[in-house]
Amino acid sequence: MTAPAGFNPKAFRDALSTFTTGVTIITTRSGDGEPVGITANSFNSVSLNPPLVLWSLAKSAFSLAAFTENKHWNVHVLSVEQEALSGRFASRGEDKFSGLALDEGINDVPLLPTCTARFQCRTSFMYEGGDHIIFVGEVLGFDKSELPPLAFQSGQYALAARKPREGVRLSLEEPLECSYTEDLLGYLAGRAHYQLVAALQTLLKSHKLDEHAFFVLSVLSIKDKLTLEEINRFVSYTGREANLSLLAFLEKQGYIVAEEIDGQRRFILTAEGREISLEQIALAKAIEEEVTEKLGPGDAQALKILLKRLIKATDPGVPDLWSAPEQPVSTAI
Ligand SMILES: Cc1cc2nc3c(=O)[nH]c(=O)nc-3n(C[C@H](O)[C@H](O)[C@H](O)COP(=O)(O)O)c2cc1C
Repeated sequence: MTAPAGFNPKAFRDALSTFTTGVTIITTRSGDGEPVGITANSFNSVSLNPPLVLWSLAKSAFSLAAFTENKHWNVHVLSVEQEALSGRFASRGEDKFSGLALDEGINDVPLLPTCTARFQCRTSFMYEGGDHIIFVGEVLGFDKSELPPLAFQSGQYALAARKPREGVRLSLEEPLECSYTEDLLGYLAGRAHYQLVAALQTLLKSHKLDEHAFFVLSVLSIKDKLTLEEINRFVSYTGREANLSLLAFLEKQGYIVAEEIDGQRRFILTAEGREISLEQIALAKAIEEEVTEKLGPGDAQALKILLKRLIKATDPGVPDLWSAPEQPVSTAI
């Protein structure tokens, strides 16, 4: 069988890659007992009764002999945390299992831990499939976790976010050009922010703080000994600058102290300031857990990734608060 005239393999591959899949690692053991594994997204379900699955392996793969000789193999549906592992098993390296802890599987076939799902299989049929061999396997055992699965779409790793039927309101009429709609990104981001922060306000008020003062304390809890100007580099994206009277207020409350360091007035969190910061962050984490429960862990993770992309796309140049402090340049020889 040959490709039809004018067939464009790249365009064919591009069209195929629009079909979003999960990502698996399929493992076996070679004749001499070495662990063998490959990243594959050709995995699919075939039959429920009897339980059968399939996947296809390139005839050019290093691991072809191992998979054709050993009837036992394990399919690992990877979680979003296992992207690096997918990369490792997609390389032709021979040391793919180095440093990996393994669970005990049927017939001593390598079984990787902390996956979204795992299927332990035995080859029922092998078919010729052009430049691939198609393996159909009977499922002898399987397990599943709550970890969100890694997805693959158009040649890139992706996240699968659910698209609920309810709550998607479709307007039959064309919206007015200047209308304020519920789909406006600014509205969605703003409303989500205020609804999340509302739960923190009560605690803030009990410490006589507002959101802005709390931002300043949070910055100082991560980077200490900042000048007013440096603090503002981190908080002015909110549209409000910290000023000396706010810092004096925080000092009076006993949350920060000022020190003269190298001729500059620098601000440091007191033990009390650190404690209320931690209390606030603990509450923020508890709220996050509640929201994650409602959204599901996969969607919560997808949301965070999209928010990070939104922040990057709209970044006015805020320095990285979480970057390691600059090391003084050593002049010692
Ligand atoms: C997301 C992804 C999916 C892949 N799916 C398959 C597949 O289904 N079948 C296949 O033969 N190779 C697939 N590959 C490529 C193999 O993982 C890669 O060629 C690997 O080097 C083969 O290992 P080996 O040569 O050591 O056997 C995939 C790679 C990636 C990154």
